[in-house]
Amino acid sequence: MIPTSSPEAGLQPASTPTSAAFATSRRAALQADAAASPPIISMRGVSKWYGDFRVLDSLALDVHAGEKVILCGPSGSGKSTTIRLLNRLEQHQKGTVTVCGIELTDDNRNIEAIRADVGMVFQHFNLFPHLTVLENCVLAPMLVKKVPRAEAEARAMAYLDRVKIPQLAGQYPGQISGGQKQRVAIARALCMQPKVMLFDEPTSALDPEMVKDVLDTMVSLARDGMTMICVTHEMGFARDVGDRVVFMDEGRIVETDTPQHFFSAPKTERARSFLGQLISH
Ligand SMILES: Nc1ncnc2c1ncn2[C@@H]1O[C@H](COP(=O)(O)OP(=O)(O)OP(=O)(O)O)[C@@H](O)[C@H]1O
Ligand SMILES: [Mg+2]
Repeated sequence: MIPTSSPEAGLQPASTPTSAAFATSRRAALQADAAASPPIISMRGVSKWYGDFRVLDSLALDVHAGEKVILCGPSGSGKSTTIRLLNRLEQHQKGTVTVCGIELTDDNRNIEAIRADVGMVFQHFNLFPHLTVLENCVLAPMLVKKVPRAEAEARAMAYLDRVKIPQLAGQYPGQISGGQKQRVAIARALCMQPKVMLFDEPTSALDPEMVKDVLDTMVSLARDGMTMICVTHEMGFARDVGDRVVFMDEGRIVETDTPQHFFSAPKTERARSFLGQLISH
């Protein structure tokens, strides 16, 4: 069955240029909804150590359904660790993390449930090199969600179509470009029909001419209502699509603001210096 009712189902073909007006009107609607519904992701007092090194320090963050949160900060500030613990690729040692109403604990049933709801797209794609694009896309729905093969393939083709690469279904990852690989990775995540999508620097390993196609795909997802947390330094994307920027430094959330305020008038010296470096590169 081709999916038609999930939030991402209406993913449109290549987006028109992003617009701040879109983000502003959405933000107002989200603020109204936020008061009414519990957050889809909630972190409270979350800390994590690698040995003696505290990599995350008392993080508190709520993300509501439909919200787009941009996570940024200097290298080593804990961005990847933060989003990786949201689908239990990392474990926190202190505090509570609740995703889609399920608290993350050592209970394996919880982890399976979370991974079915949370899609993740990595910097380096993480596709299986020995499987075709189509096989990469059908694997998790068939294994984890027990979707019959014919339905999983139809679903995969629908999402490959939406990320504009249906013609690559029979190719292997080694035969396609970085930008195409990343769009496969997005389609693969969507095939699980997740409630939240996590992106960890999805464009930073791409050649510049491939960045736009991937960002366009993400903009389309955003416009269709997907809840997203994106680690990215793509400021144009952050400004136009983000509802909130969360700035991290040394394992802490140092500043949270709308993209418009954060990029034009950051409150902390640390954020000012970070943005200064970003702009000068
Ligand atoms: N498995 C690990 N063992 C020990 N230290 C780790 C491990 N993974 C990450 N770290 C350290 O934790 C800190 C945060 O790493 P993390 O990858 O979350 O940073 P980041 O903000 O995503 O950085 P970048 O922008 O470079 O991707 C870094 O100092 C890193 O060296
Ligand atoms: Mg990282």
